[in-house]
Formats: sequence, C-alpha cells, structure tokens
Amino acid sequence: MNSHYNPDGWDTGELERAGALARELRSIAGANARVFAVRAPGRANLIGEHTDYSGLPVLPAAIDRSTIIVAAAMESREVTLRNAAPDFAPRTFQLERRIPPFAQGDWANYVKAAVQGVIDHFGALGVALARLRGAALFVEGRITTAAGLSSSSALTVASALAFMAVNGLDLPPLECAPMVARSERYVGTMGGGMDQAAALFGRRDHALFIEFNPLRVRPVRMPSDAAIIVADSGEIADKSGSARAEYNRRVVECALAARILARTLKLQGVRTLGDVVSARVNWNATDLVGILERAAPARLAPDLEEAKRLLDMTGISHESLLHELVGPGASSVKLDPAKPLEIFRRARHVLTETERVIRGAELLEAGQLEAMGALMNESHASLASDFECSTARLDKIAASARAGGALGARLTGAGFGGSIVAMCRAADAPRVIESLDRFYYEPLGIEARGRRAVLHAGDGASTIELAVA
Ligand code: GLA
Repeated sequence: MNSHYNPDGWDTGELERAGALARELRSIAGANARVFAVRAPGRANLIGEHTDYSGLPVLPAAIDRSTIIVAAAMESREVTLRNAAPDFAPRTFQLERRIPPFAQGDWANYVKAAVQGVIDHFGALGVALARLRGAALFVEGRITTAAGLSSSSALTVASALAFMAVNGLDLPPLECAPMVARSERYVGTMGGGMDQAAALFGRRDHALFIEFNPLRVRPVRMPSDAAIIVADSGEIADKSGSARAEYNRRVVECALAARILARTLKLQGVRTLGDVVSARVNWNATDLVGILERAAPARLAPDLEEAKRLLDMTGISHESLLHELVGPGASSVKLDPAKPLEIFRRARHVLTETERVIRGAELLEAGQLEAMGALMNESHASLASDFECSTARLDKIAASARAGGALGARLTGAGFGGSIVAMCRAADAPRVIESLDRFYYEPLGIEARGRRAVLHAGDGASTIELAVA
C-alpha cells in the first residue's frame, strides 16, 4: 500500500496507538473493514523562515513526534472524525464539490482542507466525485499544537493520505506535497510549502534542504555530535486571528517587493522573490536589497494606491491587485488599514535569509556547528528586526538557550509566539535545558516539563494497512 511512503517510519509506540484506534474504529466500520493507518510528523525548521511562500529554500527536519490517523471507508458520503484529545470535538461533514468550512479556528477545517484538496486534484484527473467514498477517521496527535511545530500540516498531510488510502488513490510525494500545501490555504492562511514537504520527505537523522517550483528535496545528514532542542514559549500564536492577518500581510509585502524588483530589472513573469532570484545568475542579497532601496519607498500605504502607481497598474481594483499579487487565496487577505506595508525590510530579511539557508546546508553537511549556530542567531535577529515576527518572550527564550551553551537559537515556524529551535553539541543539551528552565520557565511560573525536549530528525509520513486482529 502506498509504496512511495516509508513503512519503516513507524515506531512501536505509534503502532500500538494505531492498533488501539483501529479496535475502536472497527466497532463502527465493521469487524472486517479494511483499516489503514497513517502517520505524519511535525517539523522543526533549522533555518529559512518566511522564505517558502516566496519560492525560496528552507532547511527543516521532520521530528520524531507525529499525528496518527486510522481510517476506514464508509458506505455513506460522510466523513466522520474523532480526535483522541478531548478539546477537539467529533465532527462530521459530507463529500461535496465545494465543502463549506466549519467556523474559523475549528480543528476539523484542516481535514476538510485535505479532503477538498484530494477532490480537486483527482477531479482534474477525471476521478468523479461520485466515485469517492466517505470515511471514518480517528485522529491522535502527539505534536504540541500552536507551538510552531506544524501540528496542523501534519494533520492535513495525514488526512489527505488517509482519505486517498480508503479510496484506493495514490500520489507520489513530489506531487502530494504541493497538493496538500495548496489545499491547506482552505483555512485562510497563505502558507508556503515547507511544512507539508517536511512531513512527507522526513528522513531519520537528516535535515532537508527543500527548494520549490518545482519541489526538490535533498536530505542533509545531521552531524552526530549535534542536538536539536525545541522549546515552546507557551505564548500562543493566534493562528486564526491576528497572527494569521500578520502572516498574510507578510505574503503581500514580499509579493510587492518581488513585483517592484521585477519592474526595475525588467524581468517578465515574476510573481515571487524566488522568481527574481532565479532570473538573476549570481545574485546576492546585498545587490538586490540595494536595488530595491533605490527603486521604491521603504513602506507603502496599506490602501495599495501607491503600489498600483509604482507598478503601473492604476486601472485595476484593490481586490484585483491582491489577486494578481498572491493568487487565488487573496480573499483571505485583510490588510489592516492602520499599518503601512513594509517592503524594504521584509525583502531584506527574505533575501539575506536565503543566503543563510544555502550556507547553512553546506555548514551542516560539513559538521561546522559553531558557524551554523551563528547563522541561526542571525536569522533570529533578522526575523525580530526586519520581519517583525518575534516577540519579547521568543527573544527571551532564545537568549536563555544561548546562555546555556546553545550555539544558535531562533524562533521556528511562523513566529508571533510558538517555539524556538536551538542547536548545541549533544553533550551540552542538559545544560541548555537547565538554562531554559532557570532563565525562562521558572521566572514566568510556567511548568517546563513537556515544553522543551531534545528532538530527533525523523522519517516522513507513511500509510500502512492494518491486519484484522
Ligand atoms: C508557517 C507556514 C510555513 C512557513 C512558516 C514560516 O509554518 O505554514 O509555510 O511559511 O510559517 O517560515
């Protein structure tokens, strides 16, 4: 089943969890139902933050924490969801051409996103909606939610694979990852493709150098003396509210920077900063940042009138310009009328971060941990000052990791709260954890246990069929 995905990725604990869920599921789906189990891991991004939606590379690792779904086909056209975590209530929805979302912020919208993505993708290949069967999906997540470890993409990836499995559909990971990335925009965030690719391509003991358009993934072995520590700040990034609006605004800011550069450099067909980079052989961040600085004001009014003038697009409406800039998800972008669009600083982060990612992959490969750590620290500084997605607490927790001997520490994921990732020599990991407790968790009165851990780079998603017990 699903030969593209590594069936060895399962550890004994996960198989036991899947087995227990399968017993429950068979009580609904019938004792002889074919039952599939999917695991999809979260990820920690080592470096390359807020570069993916500009089509520029990232260097995450899938982690050894996963979401599991156990699934069986149903006779009806209903998808029934249960989540082992009591905070996530059971849900049911119908298979339809356009599945309407649940209320904003509902966990099951990630499952709807995946199912809608599969319907659309296979629909375009001629698989009729009427041919698809409903499913019962039992979910159990072991990735801390709202912590910047991409539990949501693990859920979307696992749901897509589970829904495909019960319907006898299959897709190689190079096609599956962009499909799931696109479909996750259903929840209203204009995300890039890093999380889904990391969940699908994860490889034990390896980070992943991921490039986009087209997707390419190169595993980079983690040096054996390195440890990755992920620590949750406990500050919740409000993904369906203000953090989402800020994230989407960054997508628009980066797209505007790309268009302004393209116009100045007379490049055709540019949508993203990645397109600008691809069109310039031997590009470097300093040159492009310099060109942008001369070509455009550092910030633009949020009503986009100035942007239209700069881009010679004065004839079109605000909505059309947004659509032109960010594509079909434009309707989920709400620009705060009180906040100017920061063009220059956002682009400076993305372009310098891209240089750091490329260099970071080389350094990791060469086992040069100090230099890699220094890049991670630079990345955090750039995210804090130019990209403005850090918070006082993220700054503090990163500093606490460094104080304990971490060679580098930075926010991981979208920011605005969530987790940091730190890298240290394996022997120093206990000292880093002690320092996090002493300088971050204890002063804030936060229970540290379960919030910080040494994580290992793990395998990507896989689907297996469970034998009848
Ligand atoms: C979120 C998104 C990713 C990526 C990061 C920032 O995790 O889902 O696509 O943009 O933020 O690097």
